[in-house]
Amino acid sequence: MRETENRAREAYVEKFGGEPEVVASAPGRINLIGEHTDYNGGFVLPCAIDRRIAVAAGRDGEELLYSADFDRARPLRHKDDSWAKYPRGVAWALREAGHDADGFRAALAGDVPRASGLSSSAAIEAATALALDALFGFGLDGKTLARICQRAENEYVGVQSGIMDQYASLLCEAGSALLIDCRSLEAETVPLGLQGAGLSLVVCDTRVERGLADTGYNDRRASCERAAETLGVEQLRDATEEDLDRLSGEELLRARHVVTENARVTRAVESLRSKDFEAFGHLMYASHESMRDDYEISTPELDAFVEIAGDNGAPGARLTGAGFGGCAIALMPPGNSETLAEACRRVFAGRGFKEPVFYEFAPSAGAEVVG
Ligand code: GLA
Repeated sequence: MRETENRAREAYVEKFGGEPEVVASAPGRINLIGEHTDYNGGFVLPCAIDRRIAVAAGRDGEELLYSADFDRARPLRHKDDSWAKYPRGVAWALREAGHDADGFRAALAGDVPRASGLSSSAAIEAATALALDALFGFGLDGKTLARICQRAENEYVGVQSGIMDQYASLLCEAGSALLIDCRSLEAETVPLGLQGAGLSLVVCDTRVERGLADTGYNDRRASCERAAETLGVEQLRDATEEDLDRLSGEELLRARHVVTENARVTRAVESLRSKDFEAFGHLMYASHESMRDDYEISTPELDAFVEIAGDNGAPGARLTGAGFGGCAIALMPPGNSETLAEACRRVFAGRGFKEPVFYEFAPSAGAEVVG
């Protein structure tokens, strides 16, 4: 068992007495390329990170949820705006889908950074869904569980996100990214080979909380829907570069990002397959520029990180996730990561930005039942 899984198990024993029947865990994610394409029916290429949330569950006794990280117990059947809404939402979505997820208690522990855009909420949902599937013997596959988690997020938690985060948390494999066709919901593992190429994934959390993010996110979704309507296509996935000539203003900007980003994901997968990290890196920079100039979801902090990464020899760098704050990533050659972090700290301090936090993540396995 990993350390977080053991912490969840121990928390269960301590809080409820007796061993849990099941322990499962699920990771957070970063997205390598393909941003804001999921809800347009397009392509994304996330990978799971080596930070996880673990859920230990059993069927005896009172229905309770306990978080070891917050040292708080909450009733399963209740509504509030705490961390407990995620496991509650998953139990609700399972029941809505006809699976009797009733009469259980669970202890949670995790080390996915929160409110940073690394999908800690998808990790809680995925770990809960897998734990409950094992506990009650539903026998649901990863894709079905991911759709149940997305329903929990959209309809119970009330956040209109796409399918990327839940798919990534449930279906990624170690050392690999996951190419998801968000229309057909087909997913394919794409080996990354970063270690072999001597590259690491450096993540910079700019610590700018996505205050207005939800408004921004929903605005972007609405503009994409309007652009698709103007073009007479079902989703922007169906639009081509030539179609863009028929758009103007904000619709043109947003649609141009989505259309070019989808093409970049396809090319990125080809370059990974031929181990052409230089080409892959160029696509990352192009993706960032498109998010900065056309989709307008970057911030001065994210732009500064990407620029400094370039100055420090990164083959590729871009903001990752929803934008409006949160994290950016860089592919770094060996030995350059600390220089990059130091340069960033200096520039951020000079510009009056918050002190950033840096991580190096290894592409990791998706959700697993471990005990
Ligand atoms: C958030 C959402 C995802 C996706 C990204 C942007 O992470 O949860 O569904 O839309 O933003 O690519």
